[in-house]
Amino acid sequence: MTTLLHIDASVRAAKNDNSSHDSISKNIAKHFISCLQNTNAIAEYIYRDVGIHPPSFITQAWIGAVFTPANKQTIEQQALLAESDELINEVAKADTIVISTPMYNYGMPAQLKAWFDQIVRINKTFDFDLGRGDFPLKPLLNGKRLVIITSTGEFGFEQGGIREHMSHLVPHLRTMSLYLGVEKIDEIASEYQEFNDERHQRSLTNAYAKAEQIALSFYK
Ligand SMILES: Cc1cc2nc3c(=O)[nH]c(=O)nc-3n(C[C@H](O)[C@H](O)[C@H](O)COP(=O)(O)O)c2cc1C
Repeated sequence: MTTLLHIDASVRAAKNDNSSHDSISKNIAKHFISCLQNTNAIAEYIYRDVGIHPPSFITQAWIGAVFTPANKQTIEQQALLAESDELINEVAKADTIVISTPMYNYGMPAQLKAWFDQIVRINKTFDFDLGRGDFPLKPLLNGKRLVIITSTGEFGFEQGGIREHMSHLVPHLRTMSLYLGVEKIDEIASEYQEFNDERHQRSLTNAYAKAEQIALSFYK
């Protein structure tokens, strides 16, 4: 049984009056979660739609609060960090994290980046010691599994693909996953949305099948 944190990042809803506007990434994630639920794998489920309810952007005052020792923080600083505390607690609790996200302008949506900015925090999710030489930052969380579900309008962002050099979504998520305490990553990608042709249909079918396979792998 797993404690699962599910983050959706598309600004589109999963279901709309016009189904051609439905978020692809959110629907693949829904399918993955329901496969896990069917086999009672989820002990606790925590959900955030950061696309529709974006976390706050950090500010200079936020950075000031973060670098103030906890026992010296003012009431205002504690209030300023309450959102970050809550988001970090959700990550710390989870042993599986699912992030579904579109590619916007070759990277992650600003809303998802805002979530990471709230979470990657000194002495909470990493610590800093120049004694470690050129790599002073060390993640503090560990042992988590991450499932990344992406949807793109174009294609070929994978290793060796024709747009690998333009791929700043999954590579960025892989880097950031260290600060979530992730030790194993599974990836599901739907491509070709903008072409709306048989390649897109094939890509979608493969993505749904992969979601089922990965869900099954939770019981092996
Ligand atoms: C603002 C915006 C920027 C986008 N930028 C890209 C892009 O850089 N590369 C790409 O392949 N697709 C891009 N797309 C297409 C989306 O990735 C695609 O529509 C995807 O299916 C959206 O995810 P969703 O279906 O979960 O909402 C963009 C779409 C929007 C709305």
